[in-house]
Amino acid sequence: MKIRVPNNSAPLFDDVAVSNDDVSREKATGAYYTPDAVVRSLISWALRRPTDRLLDPSCGDGRFLSVHSNSVGVEQEPSACKIVHERVPGSLIHQGDFFSWASRTQERFDCAAGNPPFIRYQRFTGEVREAAQRLCEKHGAFFSSLSSSWAPFLVVTASLLKPGGRMAFVVPAEIGHAPYAAPVLEYMTKQFDCVQVIAVLNKLFPELSEDCWLLYADGFGGSTREVRFTPLEHFSFCARPPRGGLAVSLAEWKQWNGRLRPFLVSAEARELYSIAADSRRTRRLGDIARVGIGYVTGANDFFHLRPSTVDRLGVPRNLLHPAVRNGKSLANGCVDQACVKSWLAADEPIMLLRLSPESEVPAPVRRYLDSPAGRDARKTYKCRNRNPWYAVPDVTVPDGFLSYMSGDGPKLVSNGAGCVGTNSVHVVHLTNGIGMDRLMKLWTEPLTALSCEIEGHPLGGGMLKLEPREAARVMLSDTAIRTDKDRETIEDAVVALKRWRHYV
Ligand SMILES: C[S@@+](CC[C@H](N)C(=O)[O-])C[C@H]1O[C@@H](n2cnc3c(N)ncnc32)[C@H](O)[C@@H]1O
Repeated sequence: MKIRVPNNSAPLFDDVAVSNDDVSREKATGAYYTPDAVVRSLISWALRRPTDRLLDPSCGDGRFLSVHSNSVGVEQEPSACKIVHERVPGSLIHQGDFFSWASRTQERFDCAAGNPPFIRYQRFTGEVREAAQRLCEKHGAFFSSLSSSWAPFLVVTASLLKPGGRMAFVVPAEIGHAPYAAPVLEYMTKQFDCVQVIAVLNKLFPELSEDCWLLYADGFGGSTREVRFTPLEHFSFCARPPRGGLAVSLAEWKQWNGRLRPFLVSAEARELYSIAADSRRTRRLGDIARVGIGYVTGANDFFHLRPSTVDRLGVPRNLLHPAVRNGKSLANGCVDQACVKSWLAADEPIMLLRLSPESEVPAPVRRYLDSPAGRDARKTYKCRNRNPWYAVPDVTVPDGFLSYMSGDGPKLVSNGAGCVGTNSVHVVHLTNGIGMDRLMKLWTEPLTALSCEIEGHPLGGGMLKLEPREAARVMLSDTAIRTDKDRETIEDAVVALKRWRHYV
């Protein structure tokens, strides 16, 4: 559906009023609209002439369109389209899915600006995602099914520009580290003369746990071998992208695993990190251990029993195994017999009911499996998809445990009590003769802390996440950093990255 509204040539950069109603609607629907200073900054730069034709591919309530009358917006929400209709006379609004519109339109634009939806891959599915992927592939950008919606939004928007065109967008800070963000930046550098990413420390959207950065790209039809990366403490209105920052060559960016986040630390820290990475004496965690997620029960509360429940039900001890249930259990730096004893004394639910497919099921356990709790547990997705439903697979006794969600940094502890570990922690199996004591000592080095920050990724809310493949890349060395000054440089870099993920 097209809604053509009369052109009453609204002046450039009129104030965009945001009412309390707008704010509560944003909160209710999760569609967070862009602050005025950001809207004006992106549009001021993107527009060169009053006659420029501007595209906002996900225009929401039309706040980007409202500052320029010669605009085209696309928006799938009928209620938002209605607001645009009332608020932005002179704009052409296409109601519906951007990707299906983009595949049909013949129109090409001088510039584009906006704030694409950040719909995570779990919800970015079906026909819309397929249409998005098809279009991106046509333009040489390939996204995995784990991509968030903003990535194809940017690529397809770029493909609708005229030669020499430009675009300026709000992007999630994931552009600095997510694997699926790499094809976006690669595409941008192949299609534009200049690409600039602005990292902003103080939140652009204070109500969101997610950080947002900005992306500017100029000279569609050209290409560049670098991305300009400009970290800012605070963003305020600016008619041009802020100067300064680093020219990050694509070759360098690839060396850092296709991430911009490492460029938030000092050049000295990066240099030391690179030297350590090249040293023959430095190991990666994956060289000396296998790191994986723990076992998945599908119904943790059912499968982990308290000692008091074990006694009440009469479950035989040989079918129970003490388990590390979560990262908090690693807080004291050890999992030993004393630790397990203290959990049992506190009647914590840490005894895994460990039945194999071949196990004889004794009568007390059979009664528990057939209890109301057991009947509920067997309906869960994981239990439904294994046979028999009560035999939890992949239960191993690792050499150590690693927390994978942390504020201060991931904790590595040895498994001195023969525990098993749920998928709330990583399990670590040593593979090449280096012992846990030695590994734990290496883990306390500042270089390792920096490596966790660089190889892991921020999750919002101050947390750092370390996926198994990221953990495998963590560097270990107690010889690479020799002087106090170098140590300080590395420690400062750790503090800087913690600050960028808002961990105080
Ligand atoms: C983050 S809001 C941004 C709105 C506006 N550009 C702003 O910054 O204030 C994203 C908008 O994209 C819209 N949207 C989501 N998926 C879409 C799609 N496939 N096609 C068109 N619009 C879509 C949502 O309804 C929402 O209004």
